[in-house]
Amino acid sequence: MKLPALTLLAMPQRLAVRSGVMLLFLIHTSMPLAANPVPADAASVSRGAQTFQQYCTECHGRDGRAQVDVISDATDLTDPEAYYSGTSEQDIYNSIAFGAGVAMPPWESQLKSEAEIWHLVNFIRSLWADE
Ligand code: HEC
Repeated sequence: MKLPALTLLAMPQRLAVRSGVMLLFLIHTSMPLAANPVPADAASVSRGAQTFQQYCTECHGRDGRAQVDVISDATDLTDPEAYYSGTSEQDIYNSIAFGAGVAMPPWESQLKSEAEIWHLVNFIRSLWADE
């Protein structure tokens, strides 16, 4: 079979592009899902604290313990052993974004951005006593 010279020249390039795309795809699919992209520094924790005071205290209390002046049987967020829905950063993110149990509402649409939710995650984990 006789291929036009141009096609012959283009073939190795196409192969290279294809395997490049394939490689990117493999790297992409083998990466762990969405690790917390927001470092838990003081600025992030204080942003989270502000959002918490704004939206979360009526059920979780100002200190997150859900003991005084709260209207529902919410989780004591200061005690990781009390959590029902997991304590990894991603678990907590999911509880906030999509809701948890029957009475924890989803906040995804009310909070401004994913970063806002990660700030909350960082704030909540800052409430845990150091083991
Ligand atoms: C209307 C009351 C209410 C509000 C407001 C509320 N929560 Fe909750 N939250 C709950 C309840 C109730 C639970 C326990 C759900 C269950 O039974 O699993 C909960 C659970 C959670 C959990 C999962 C803990 C676990 O048990 O694994 C997190 C994290 C959380 N809330 C964070 C927040 C944050 C952050 C806010 C503010 C953006 C917020 N909550 C606002 C009621 C509320």
